[in-house]
Amino acid sequence: MVLVTGAGGVGKTTLAAGLAVRAAESGLASLVMTVDPAHRLADALGGYSLVNHPTQHPEVRGLWAATLDAAASWEEIIRRHAPPEVADRTIANPLFEAVTSRFPAGQAYAAADQMASRIEEGRWDIVLVDTPPSEGGIDFFLAPARTRELVGAKILHWLTGARLPGRRAFFDIAARPALKLADAVLGGRLLGNVAEFLLDLRAAYDGIAHRADDIQTHLRSATTLVVATAQPTPIREAERFFLELPNAVRPPAAVVFNRILPADWTKAAALPPPPKLGVAVVENLERWAAEAHRQQEARAEFASRFRARLAEIPWMSADLTTPADLSRLVSAARGLPLDQLGIR
Ligand SMILES: Nc1ncnc2c1ncn2[C@@H]1O[C@H](COP(=O)(O)OP(=O)(O)OP(=O)(O)O)[C@@H](O)[C@H]1O
Ligand SMILES: [Mg+2]
Repeated sequence: MVLVTGAGGVGKTTLAAGLAVRAAESGLASLVMTVDPAHRLADALGGYSLVNHPTQHPEVRGLWAATLDAAASWEEIIRRHAPPEVADRTIANPLFEAVTSRFPAGQAYAAADQMASRIEEGRWDIVLVDTPPSEGGIDFFLAPARTRELVGAKILHWLTGARLPGRRAFFDIAARPALKLADAVLGGRLLGNVAEFLLDLRAAYDGIAHRADDIQTHLRSATTLVVATAQPTPIREAERFFLELPNAVRPPAAVVFNRILPADWTKAAALPPPPKLGVAVVENLERWAAEAHRQQEARAEFASRFRARLAEIPWMSADLTTPADLSRLVSAARGLPLDQLGIR
């Protein structure tokens, strides 16, 4: 299992798809899963439509892909772990959609759950997961624990008393004057819905808590690639994988700097200006030389602070819209731990 993670927009989907294509070309049964709502994976793989379960690529043998529908996955999770009538009620609750699709840890948990199921199916040699574009990729690793906390939430104990309540207890809560007043002021059944939702979710608690442990075990054995660009925000996100990652998870196998300018561009400004080129062109070369230099410094600084394997992917000028483009991108990269992933 390979997790491709990092800050927003750095090239996670592109790299995950590229590695999946290269793995398939190496003869591995390869699956890439994304949660990207923008359909970038489908576009990058040549535009075939992806669904919530793996489908085979029409052209590349051995390549499978899926996109995560968080609400559909949560529906499966709830149906698996709660009695049918409770599951129906939970899914119909207006909060269900909000928690499952818009709450980042909810989305991350659904992705982790799907990923674990695919690994357990055992049909693929390599499963690549393009982690959700939530604030930081690190959320993905914390999602099982957070979801367990949410489902067993303290707020429930506060709302319902210490013991796991039955439905009657719930109606007692809903009848509480404070809830009634709040709902009257807010103009709806907001708190009533919250209380009911959390209570119903409680029915799935044991199942979800158990599953969260399985997922954690899979995460512990995964290979993680952190993607960054030489910009301050992506670098800060990458640093978090060294400063904040829970002990139970393996450190990243590599930090991949994407959209890198060629090293020899740093010398561009030192070259004698080519004859007949205008001042604007010379200025432009100088600007790119300065940028290439800045990128080099940023990588060196990172390397001096963290013991990490660094990889680089060049900034491609052509579009990346077919499996062949993605395969070329991975071939042009330096330092990716391809051996470790079984990719030739
Ligand atoms: N090395 C590269 N050279 C040129 N363009 C690139 C490179 N890597 C990625 N891109 C382009 O950058 C854009 C963003 O890449 P991508 O969608 O993979 O990022 P992401 O990290 O998945 O973003 P998000 O966090 O929004 O999901 C895409 O248009 C992609 O084609
Ligand atoms: Mg993406």
